[in-house]
Amino acid sequence: MSNKKFYVTTPIYYVTARPHLGSLYSTLIADVAARWNKLQGKKTFFLTGTDEHGQKVAQAAEKAGKAPKEFVDSYIDVYKKIWKDYELDYNDFIRTTDPRHKKAVQEFIKKLEKKGDIYKGEYSGWYCVSDEAYLTETDYNTTVTYKEDEGPPCPVCGRATKLMKEQGYFFKLSAYQDKLLKFYKENPDFITPKERFNEITSFVKSGLRDLSISRTTTDWGIPFPGDEKHVCYVWLDALVNYISAVGYGDPKKKDDFNFWWPTDLHVMAKDIVRFHAVYWPAFLMAADLELPKRLLVHGWITLCGKKMSKSFANVVDPEVLYKKYGAEPVRYFLLRQIPVTQDGDFCLEDLDQRITCELANDLGNLLNRMLMLAQKNNILTIPVQEGWSGDAIKLRDEAFDTIGDVQGYMEDYLFHMALARMWKFIGNVNAYFHGHEPWKLAKKDSGVFIEVLSATCHSLHQIALLLWPIMPSKMEELLSALGVTFDYKKNVIENLKLSRWTEKFELKMIPPLFEKPEEASECKKKQVADKTGQCETETPSYIPIDTVAQVELRVGTIEQVEEIPKSDKLLQLAVDFGQCGKRTILAGVKKWYKPEDLIGKQAVFVFNLKPRKMLGIESQGMMLFAESDDGQLQLTQPAGKVPNGTRLR
Ligand code: MSP
Repeated sequence: MSNKKFYVTTPIYYVTARPHLGSLYSTLIADVAARWNKLQGKKTFFLTGTDEHGQKVAQAAEKAGKAPKEFVDSYIDVYKKIWKDYELDYNDFIRTTDPRHKKAVQEFIKKLEKKGDIYKGEYSGWYCVSDEAYLTETDYNTTVTYKEDEGPPCPVCGRATKLMKEQGYFFKLSAYQDKLLKFYKENPDFITPKERFNEITSFVKSGLRDLSISRTTTDWGIPFPGDEKHVCYVWLDALVNYISAVGYGDPKKKDDFNFWWPTDLHVMAKDIVRFHAVYWPAFLMAADLELPKRLLVHGWITLCGKKMSKSFANVVDPEVLYKKYGAEPVRYFLLRQIPVTQDGDFCLEDLDQRITCELANDLGNLLNRMLMLAQKNNILTIPVQEGWSGDAIKLRDEAFDTIGDVQGYMEDYLFHMALARMWKFIGNVNAYFHGHEPWKLAKKDSGVFIEVLSATCHSLHQIALLLWPIMPSKMEELLSALGVTFDYKKNVIENLKLSRWTEKFELKMIPPLFEKPEEASECKKKQVADKTGQCETETPSYIPIDTVAQVELRVGTIEQVEEIPKSDKLLQLAVDFGQCGKRTILAGVKKWYKPEDLIGKQAVFVFNLKPRKMLGIESQGMMLFAESDDGQLQLTQPAGKVPNGTRLR
């Protein structure tokens, strides 16, 4: 294993109730990110835990008639059990009531004090207990009208805030405004997605007020060092978990801390970005520590359009889903169904459909049919193939393209895209397998028969490795059916890319990988057996109009086309977009077009696609084609000539 590392965290959850599907979602994203990095041969550290102090928790404990510590203790095993059921393989579970954490928080505050960034003062403002935050001036100025006997509503949860006035300690956040803006400018990929990054930069540009970091309104917290009448503000306390867990403040753990810090990824939902993207970096700057490398901000899981939340009492219990479906179909569904940076409504009917069509039919049946056919013909060993015929080579090429594409999507945390790409490939494997009718070949031509089985095994082997971060146990079962022992200590993805399909497989029958849910209606997909094996769905997953609006499609004229000697697929285009400039765009159409067929033609391009390097050349967009039944790619053009740069709407 290399010395490269990947450190990922989840938010630490308020322990006021059992975990719900929303908390599971963040933890799952972090788990998948850690596992994906494991497949790249990195050492990984995945941290999760619980946020146990503050007024919100104290009030919930009081309501339950328990002392706060007894109250929070009662939930820890519940969290740990659910995380284990869902195979969330964290390295550490930190609790803010742990003595190691308390010590680290106090050390951290002392460091800020020494720096001269803390002073004593008085604060009054509108406070939301549920979100443990004061309204900012902007929140207050943009707030709707409110009843006189209540405070203005919190912009995050909508609950009435309370007027609070406290003597306390302040952190000089205002002194960090310019440093933060400079940091954002130098690190434009700090926050994914871009909209959140833009929101944060404009929030900071609008001005920062110093932050009250101690409380006297509750005594349920870490005593403020040097003035124990105060406790630390719960958000300062909570954020420090990301360093206390890896050894901050413990002289014996200095090396561990230096190895793991800074974190490579903080995962969270959009409600708590400000704390992570503004306050946390400012605290870290003050403490002379490096800043996190990236924040991944996911959307909310909603139920009937409303955020799923303990306090709205509209939560789905992950344990109930686990008992009914098992962990891995739910893991798959959450990542396949909801584009990670958008909100997504949870619906059982969609879950049933995806398990039936995608897991049981597309993937499970493919494995099962192949194994049954081999068994029926007394084949246990699939030998190394001496050579491959045309269709198998095509499938192998598609397999390698899939790895590259999936890798690109996973590195951007676009899990739904990575899974869609894998399922496109699974569709191709199904089309290849069925198209060759191997049940007939078994008697007619045993050489081709074995080749079809071998190509299918190689494809399934690859699918299992790419899918392992999402469905680890199921994919290890799949690999065991092929006689492959899974070992993530090798650089699995790199080895996959280097493999030339030279494996031998020892087959073993296993029970069906996925069970179809009883209530599921038959798969609503009409399996249109087109050449690429892709399914047209009668019930597509709809996307909101604003998602469509995010894609910038523009017309450009192809001015020059060059062949790329090292590639048998790509052509390098120089495209003129008029007032929007000129761009280099790579298109995988060498098979269908000669340079002279394209030069001078207008075509449609995705203009705001993230630039991507291929064979050392940066492609700054994507050309759109329509794929006809015979696999031929047809140019898409406006019906008449339009000015270059014209946007499609
Ligand atoms: N304790 C703070 C976080 C401190 S981190 C230093 C907190 N806790 S929380 O229990 O309210 O959980 C917040 C996180 O749980 C969200 O940021 C998100 O990651 C996850 N989710 C809670 N409800 C969710 C949904 N309905 N949908 C998706 N994620 C949700 O804030």
